[in-house]
Parts: sequence; structure tokens; C-alpha cells
Amino acid sequence: MRGKFSFGVCGIAALAALSIACITPLRAQSAQSIEQKTQVCAACHGADGKPADKTIPVIWGQQAGYLYIQLRDFKRGDRKSDIMQPIASSMERDEMQAIAEYLAQKPWPDLGQPRASKDVADRASNANRSIGCTGCHLDQFQGDGTIPRLAGQSREYLTKTIADFRSRARGNNPGMTDLMLATAPDDLAALEEYLSGL
Ligand code: HEC
Ligand code: HEC
Repeated sequence: MRGKFSFGVCGIAALAALSIACITPLRAQSAQSIEQKTQVCAACHGADGKPADKTIPVIWGQQAGYLYIQLRDFKRGDRKSDIMQPIASSMERDEMQAIAEYLAQKPWPDLGQPRASKDVADRASNANRSIGCTGCHLDQFQGDGTIPRLAGQSREYLTKTIADFRSRARGNNPGMTDLMLATAPDDLAALEEYLSGL
């Protein structure tokens, strides 16, 4: 009985030791390589999540599903970018998913953009009421899954990407293009200012 018991403990101890020895280094290695792979992103998207160039989007804290779809679309060429396409084209699907999840868990950075004035905020709210942006982008424009967060995104980037949807330079989501074309430019300008200040 006693022998059996101590063998059991030994077995459990050995198993525990094995799993620490075998699983921990693997985990540490894959975590490190995702971290390493995202170090190149920091050059443009910011080491602290704040992009140096304001036409570059915040990706820290963005929704994982959305980040994944963008990487996939850059790779496919459905979303055109001379900069992002070569970066994404070397990534496999699993890697894109891991990078998207890693980035999504980072805190969204505060870019310190000013809050919109009451006039601008009212205009943005009216436009939202008639078009229903928050029907998809959800309350407070936080997004979810494959729908991006817009709150606190760089104003210059929002302006650029909305213009790109309208001109179809960004052609990866024809539904968003139609919506943006159906919205008056003045309303879009108000929304951009309002969203960046959230
Ligand atoms: C040389 C600069 C540069 C580097 C390095 C870079 N990016 Fe980008 N990234 C950009 C620019 C510029 C855009 C905007 C493209 C556009 O809309 O025309 C962008 C857009 C994106 C978007 C779309 C975000 C959105 O809100 O739609 C994602 C996701 C992204 N990058 C992920 C990454 C990841 C992950 C890495 C590292 C593996 C990376 N980027 C490295 C410049 C860069
Ligand atoms: C029917 C759902 C829906 C509605 C309504 C909607 N959006 Fe979107 N929006 C999306 C989806 C989905 C995407 C992601 C498209 C993609 O995968 O590239 C998106 C992307 C965006 C982006 C790009 C974000 C980024 O990081 O590049 C902006 C900006 C945006 N929407 C603004 C708006 C505004 C402003 C309104 C209201 C005037 C609006 N959307 C209404 C679904 C919607």
C-alpha cells in the first residue's frame, strides 16, 4: 500500500515536472516569437501603441477579429497598401490570428485628441441617428469581433480611410463604401472629429 502510494506521488510529481519542463518553454517560445514579430510593427504603429505618423491607425486594443480580417485582406490584396501588403503577405493564417489576438489584448492608447465641441458632437449624433453607425459599431463606438473600434482612433487616419472607402481606394468592404458615399461630407467630417475625441 505504502509503496503504491509513494509511487503515485512520484508519478504525479514526475508528470508535473514533465509538463513544466515540456510545456512552459514551448509556451514561452511562442509568446516570445509573437512579441518579436510585432516588434517590427512598433516602428510605424508605435512602441507604446501611439503611431508617430497620424495617418497610421492605432492597432493596440483593436478588436481581434477585425485586425485579423485586415491582415488577411492586405495579404490577398483586397485592401491595397504598398506598405502593409508586403508585411502581411509573408504571414500564415495562424500567425495572423495570433498577432491579432496579441495586439487586441494591449491597452488602447490615449492619443490625447480634443473632445468635439457641442455643435460638432450634435451634428455627429444626428448623422449617427439617421445612418445608424452604432447599430454596427456599437455603443460608444467600441466595436466587437470583426467590427472595428472607432472611439479614440487617430483623426487623420479616420479622415484618410473614410476618403479611401468613398473613392474605393479601400475596396475590401463595399458595404462600408456604399454607406460612406450615402453620408454627406460635412456629416462625415463631424463624425471624424467626434470619434477621435471619444
Ligand atoms: C512601415 C510602416 C508600417 C509597419 C512596419 C507596419 N504597419 Fe500596419 N499600417 C501601416 C499603414 C500606413 C497603415 C494604413 C494603410 C492604409 O489604410 O492605407 C497600416 C494599417 C494596418 C492595419 C489596419 C488597421 C485598421 O484600423 O484598419 C493593421 C491591422 C496593421 N497595419 C497591422 C500591422 C502589423 C500587425 C504590423 C507588424 C507585423 C504592421 N502593421 C507593421 C504602416 C505600417
Ligand atoms: C452595417 C454595419 C455598419 C454600419 C451601419 C457602419 N459600419 Fe463602419 N464598418 C463596418 C464594418 C464591418 C467595418 C470593417 C470593414 C473591413 O473589414 O474593412 C467598418 C469599418 C469602418 C471604418 C474603418 C475603421 C478602421 O480602423 O479602418 C470606419 C472609419 C467606419 N466603419 C466608420 C463608420 C461610420 C462613421 C458609420 C456611420 C456613418 C459606420 N461606419 C456605419 C460596419 C458598419
